[in-house]
Amino acid sequence: MLTATVPAEPLSQDGFRGLFPALREWAWFDTPGSPPLADPVADELAEAIEQWRAGGFEWRVWDAAVEESRELFAELARVAPERVAALASVAEAAATVAASLPPGSIVVSDEEYRSVLYPFLALDPRRNPVIRVRSADGVVRASDLTAALRPDTVLVAVSDTLTSTGARVDWGELTAAAHAVGAEIFADLTQSFGVLRYDLEATPIDYVAVHGYKWLLCPRGAAWLVTRAGRDLSPLLPSWKSTAPPFGYFGGEFDLPHDASRLDTSPAWLSWLGSVPALRTMLRLPAADVEAHCLALARRFAAGAEAQGLRPLLPAQESHIVVVEVDQGPALARRLAAQHIKVTALGNRLRAGMHYFVTEADVDRALAAIPPGR
Ligand SMILES: Cc1ncc(COP(=O)(O)O)c(C=O)c1O
Repeated sequence: MLTATVPAEPLSQDGFRGLFPALREWAWFDTPGSPPLADPVADELAEAIEQWRAGGFEWRVWDAAVEESRELFAELARVAPERVAALASVAEAAATVAASLPPGSIVVSDEEYRSVLYPFLALDPRRNPVIRVRSADGVVRASDLTAALRPDTVLVAVSDTLTSTGARVDWGELTAAAHAVGAEIFADLTQSFGVLRYDLEATPIDYVAVHGYKWLLCPRGAAWLVTRAGRDLSPLLPSWKSTAPPFGYFGGEFDLPHDASRLDTSPAWLSWLGSVPALRTMLRLPAADVEAHCLALARRFAAGAEAQGLRPLLPAQESHIVVVEVDQGPALARRLAAQHIKVTALGNRLRAGMHYFVTEADVDRALAAIPPGR
């Protein structure tokens, strides 16, 4: 039941870990791909499926999960719910911003996650040319993006943390330089929000997108776009949600709200039902401890890997995501999976992400299972 009262007391690291049955066997470093399912989310979805099967469900109750989830996300982000739109993916969020841009260039890293690059490449290049920024070592920094700014630049689109490297963005440098030329910033925080802390009121990022299925433990299909106060974008996909409640089901008129909910897209109910207990769980975590714990584990993993002769991609570990170079990554990932150690490896890179449920013992178990490099 969505209205069930969740105990308000904070969750300890042990208590949090205990919510994931998969962790009884697995050391899980693949939250950058997807975390295991948490019990509160599983219970909510199981109850909904049962009610659906038995016929006792009420679709308006399911639909209300979108609003509840918006409020909870806003609480987690410490922004007003009126600034939060409910969408289904980062690609939708980026495409929503892309569709409302004035003419001018867009600066994006060539290494950027494709949901943050392609919506801008789909625009008319004569009106909105995309400047794809590269760097010699493959790690595009805020300084590389700012060097690419032009007087006509209208937007910089960037992810923090980039999943292929674990690199973080210098927000002070980027926001100052972009705003100095009149450009806005679209930030994708899917790979960090929930573990790393942000002060979105104090950091002048114009648009923040987060897909909840990674560090926020939600089912896939619940994503949010935080817009700058007072910025009236147009919905990408106007729908029954673009009318006043009860939402045009019986023929209402096109009537966009004046807050960010005007950008909402048609909701996949099960995703939103599951997002409510996921966000409630995240709200029970001690945010400062979570960040410190995950960063310390990442440093431990990177240092241990380096001591074994593997090369961390970055000279210093910056985030909760570690990327090291290995020989034959996919074969190594399979070997680790056989020992119930979950990582992602693509080509010669192995990626390990630290959520609050990971322990030092997990990190040491993974390091012991990775053969020394040359
Ligand atoms: C940085 C980043 N953004 C977004 C996504 C998901 O994109 P979308 O919401 O468009 O499916 C991922 C998935 O791996 C990601 O790593």
